[in-house]
Amino acid sequence: MGQIHIVTADITRLEVDVIVNAANTTLLGGGGVDGAIHRAAGGELLDYCRSLGGCQVGEAKLTPGYNLPAKWVIHTVGPIWQGGTLGEPKLLRECYENSLALASEHKLQQIAFPGISTGVYGYPKREAAEIALSVMQAWRERFQRIIACCFSEADAQLYQNACAQCIRE
Ligand code: APR
Repeated sequence: MGQIHIVTADITRLEVDVIVNAANTTLLGGGGVDGAIHRAAGGELLDYCRSLGGCQVGEAKLTPGYNLPAKWVIHTVGPIWQGGTLGEPKLLRECYENSLALASEHKLQQIAFPGISTGVYGYPKREAAEIALSVMQAWRERFQRIIACCFSEADAQLYQNACAQCIRE
């Protein structure tokens, strides 16, 4: 049975089948984790992304990982937080659902997520963690490891508070 792991790390360093990128609809890079992934993967990732024709909010697209230790990258676009009454929770859930479905289709067994939408896009971290964990729990039998990759101890504690049975690395 797949385990959900909570780690505090730079996601570009994780040696897993696939890491998930919190991208924007152009898929042409940006700041935050998007910028870090593109920097670490190298220019071929951007060239490949140019051929994808963008990505809708809530959707997910797969690319090779190039120079990353991860073999693949799934790019998903989270909702921009606007107060929570404009469908943001449903769209954030779709990011996790569609990313896990795409990884499962490609038989990828170890997947790591950043906190989608919780940086520049302003999604409240606790609510986002609860959505992320509820989708991860629903999919965990189909994966060896699902990793919630937090960028700070404070974020990791949020996940731990929301998921007592998750494994804190
Ligand atoms: N590894 C893991 N997590 C990271 C890393 C990293 N190297 N860098 C940032 N994070 C965390 C942030 O701390 C935040 O919790 O990823 C989460 C998502 O933050 P953002 O990267 O700002 O992504 P998001 O809020 O979804 O905004 C997306 O920002 O970078 C642009 O092009 C991107 O327009 C898009 C928008």
